Amino acid sequence: MKRVLVTGGAGFIGSNLVARMLKERDHYEVVVLDSLSYSANLENLAPFEDDPRYSFIRADVGDDAAVTEAVKGCDGVLHLAAESHVDRSIMDPAPFVASNTVGTQRLLEAWRRGPGADGLPLVYVSTDEVYGSLSLDNPDERFTESSPLEPNSAYSASKAGGDLFARAYHHTFGLNVMTTRCSNNFGPFQFPEKVIPLFVTNLIEGEKVPLYGDGKNVRDWIHVDDHAEGIIATLEKGRPGEVYNLGADNERSNLELTHAILEILGHGEEMIKYVPDRLGHDRRYAIDSSKAASDLGWKAQWSAWPGALESTVAWYKDNEAWWRSVKSGAYRDYYAKQYGGR
Ligand code: NAD
Ligand code: TYD
Repeated sequence: MKRVLVTGGAGFIGSNLVARMLKERDHYEVVVLDSLSYSANLENLAPFEDDPRYSFIRADVGDDAAVTEAVKGCDGVLHLAAESHVDRSIMDPAPFVASNTVGTQRLLEAWRRGPGADGLPLVYVSTDEVYGSLSLDNPDERFTESSPLEPNSAYSASKAGGDLFARAYHHTFGLNVMTTRCSNNFGPFQFPEKVIPLFVTNLIEGEKVPLYGDGKNVRDWIHVDDHAEGIIATLEKGRPGEVYNLGADNERSNLELTHAILEILGHGEEMIKYVPDRLGHDRRYAIDSSKAASDLGWKAQWSAWPGALESTVAWYKDNEAWWRSVKSGAYRDYYAKQYGGR
């Protein structure tokens, strides 16, 4: 049995990852550490509340005392806790630096002084956004692990700060750190500020979808289960100090994505509302994940289009109570009951 600390485990990717670790494997005990910020939702983890292999700690990754205590007895760390939304980072960059850069350094330090001293692994879950933006003119160009880090948003800059600390802790202290850089995720339990759940839930509510700029920006979409498996593969088979790109070869322009969602939900073009572009909007992301395939034996299995998008839309149709409570903020009552008000 391996005891693994999952930071940010109450968020979108974290809760899907924890579910895979507990349901699809029997050799993991999972400790979730999460500050329960606005995007967290403990209802995602409610099925495991009585599972003896699951426990939860409410703490900030920057809280040295809490993190030092939490890492005790762990065999590994999967570090996902982060501020995750680019538009919020445009409104206020400061919390991004605190959680994503400083918080990551604090966690690395606690691990170095704790079980990490014995060579146990920590996987830092980064993002392809640290590479910056590709152009639409060179469709064959993709990010590889040796592409330069050229972050353009406060979100990606703060994540890149975490990448650089992960690298430095390996190089200087010999810490067994691995980094994953994954493309845009979709699937169940995604906070409806991100484009897919926002557009799907707007349409179900009969509201238009706000498409930024000319809609030609391209994202490389991957199902969250594929990302979760990539993180687990990195923990189990990754080599210390290495970086692994994770992607599903699934590039779509925002306009193509929007048309696909409109079609699945039986709506027309008139439901698109073109709105001013995001500041500094990255044009295109595309991931070369051949290293993860050759070194980890990992390959995306659940991201095939349009099936994976259809099943995700179906999940939001079938789980209206979940996203309505998230959109209205009612889930906060749930925390207040269990952990006191915030
Ligand atoms: P999310 O916003 O749904 O979840 C983030 C979780 O981290 C929340 O539960 C939040 O409460 C917690 N958190 C935030 N700051 C914290 C702090 N200081 N201390 C403790 N907990 C804190 O985000 P997500 O989409 O699940 O992303 C998870 C990770 O994956 C992030 O590190 C993100 O950069 C990375 N990532 C996301 C994507 C994507 O498409 N969503 C793609 C690649 C990488
Ligand atoms: P998002 O889900 O915020 O992910 P990221 O910015 O990290 O890639 O956005 C995905 C794409 O969708 C991005 O190009 C911006 C665009 N977008 C819109 O057009 N309208 C919206 O309301 C949102 C949230 C995003």
